[in-house]
Amino acid sequence: MAILPILHFPDPRLRRTAEPVDDVNDEIRVLVDNMFETMYEAPGIGLAAPQVDVLKRILVVDISDDRSQPFCLINPEILSSEGDEETEEGCLSVPNTYEKVRRAKRVAVKALNLDGQLFEIRAEDLLAVCIQHEIDHLEGKLFVDYLSALKRQRIQKKLEKNRRRTM
Ligand code: NI
Repeated sequence: MAILPILHFPDPRLRRTAEPVDDVNDEIRVLVDNMFETMYEAPGIGLAAPQVDVLKRILVVDISDDRSQPFCLINPEILSSEGDEETEEGCLSVPNTYEKVRRAKRVAVKALNLDGQLFEIRAEDLLAVCIQHEIDHLEGKLFVDYLSALKRQRIQKKLEKNRRRTM
């Protein structure tokens, strides 16, 4: 397994649309293992393949404290959503930044699992928010896009300043 480098906002590579996986093979399974390791190491509760510069429709999530609820969703599609709630979100691609975002409270999602089989998952609250956040990454969308332009520019400036400091 390997820890993969995570792209950071405003890297333009985060803005690309990911392609569906047409064959869930060993190469994909190795990538998913590495994505889980990268997410746990960060640490984070979700990671989408475009964040590690792989343009495939794959995401991993685990909202537990003890790594006990890992989910991998390949080619995920939201079937239905209901309710709405505001949650403070962060993102491994937007370090040290937490802002409130409004999303559906419950979602039903279909996806392929690591054996290439279709399954359905019903999620609510944090898991639902996390899955919606990660699916956005597959479309090149980031949670900061839900904020005002002014707020987004402030976040970008702060991240650029921090990066210069650590170079
Ligand atoms: Ni994210």
